[in-house]
Amino acid sequence: MTPMGRPLLNRRLAEFGTTIFAEMSALAVRTGSINLGQGFPDTDGPEEVREAAVRALRDGRGNQYPPGPGIPELRTAVAAHQQRWYGLPYDPDTEVLVTAGATEAIAASLLALLEPGDEVIALEPYYDSYAACIALAGGTRVPVTLRPSPADAAAERRYHLDLDELRDAVTDRTRLILLNTPHNPTGTVLSRDELAAIAELACERDLLVVTDEVYEHLVFEGEHVPMASFPGMRERTVTIGSAGKTFSFTGWKVGWVTGTPELVGAVRSAKQFLTYVSAGPFQYAVAEALALPDDYFHGLREDLRRKRDILSDGLAEAGFQVFRPSGTYFVTTDITALGEKDGLAFCLGLPERCGVVAVPNSVFYDDKEAGRSLVRFAFCKQDEVLRDAVSRLQRL
Ligand SMILES: Cc1ncc(COP(=O)(O)O)c(C=O)c1O
Repeated sequence: MTPMGRPLLNRRLAEFGTTIFAEMSALAVRTGSINLGQGFPDTDGPEEVREAAVRALRDGRGNQYPPGPGIPELRTAVAAHQQRWYGLPYDPDTEVLVTAGATEAIAASLLALLEPGDEVIALEPYYDSYAACIALAGGTRVPVTLRPSPADAAAERRYHLDLDELRDAVTDRTRLILLNTPHNPTGTVLSRDELAAIAELACERDLLVVTDEVYEHLVFEGEHVPMASFPGMRERTVTIGSAGKTFSFTGWKVGWVTGTPELVGAVRSAKQFLTYVSAGPFQYAVAEALALPDDYFHGLREDLRRKRDILSDGLAEAGFQVFRPSGTYFVTTDITALGEKDGLAFCLGLPERCGVVAVPNSVFYDDKEAGRSLVRFAFCKQDEVLRDAVSRLQRL
């Protein structure tokens, strides 16, 4: 019995248990399996970036509370990054906010910009923190489901956004569209035309856009086009980035938000009461990382392209239907061809069957049926680990 006979967990969070990633990573450890569930690299990022963090710690830079918006060096580096890669100018003093990873940026943006009852359109399947943060903010999530291209359209199928469905999802209560491109878990990279149509819709219906672009440098086909670069969008877009994915230091939890002073100011109001500030010494290191030459970013992409192909080809040979991703470090598969129907049961049994951990895509869906037979694998792992996983999976 809990005090006053009431559930301990706030009702807004009642539907969200432990995240699937924690559950699956614990299963991987327990069974000694190869963990292709959670998206974290099994090797650290560049040595010079790690050294930069050590130097900052030793020199006493960032060991005490850094400034609330983030250290000036990192805000300047984020602004320079947006200018270098996308030609988007941001004022480091008023238009950049450093956060505790993209996760806090998402939470702070939604808490800042939503009123209870506001509707938020999100592309389903979605990264699991979206639904929880919309709920925490008292908003209502309205999923628009990405769907695979028809089976006979091409040898390899991809996930697409139905723009009519998106348009139909907008109501008078819609406050914002929560975008994610490159998209986890489908690996879809929204095209310039798709983004232009979303931008047009946002302007026409006077909507905000919060866009999670943490995989911006992991694009293998097509190009990453920031939402903020479309006409009329700079003033209504909150863009989220993260050092975790781009520099392979997911444990550092350094992320950022860019937008107009008004938008960034609103997000900062929420962020200051969540974490107040983010880890100091790592901010100095990430400032250096963002200034790495283009070769670093291209090298990362080519490295992951090779890994994508090792895993995608291996999964296809093992009998999975593979949706080869255009971006991110995840590959979505369909297990129907293996004679399986339920991704959750499949993932729970997989460690015992062949010593590999994956994640059932159904956890990313409100429409559980749409994701039922889908399973996601991460390929941000060493080549030999991926090859080992593939040979284990071929036992299926
Ligand atoms: C789409 C998406 N957004 C945000 C995050 C979290 O980023 P961070 O580790 O910077 O909080 C992830 C991590 O997997 C992600 O896939």
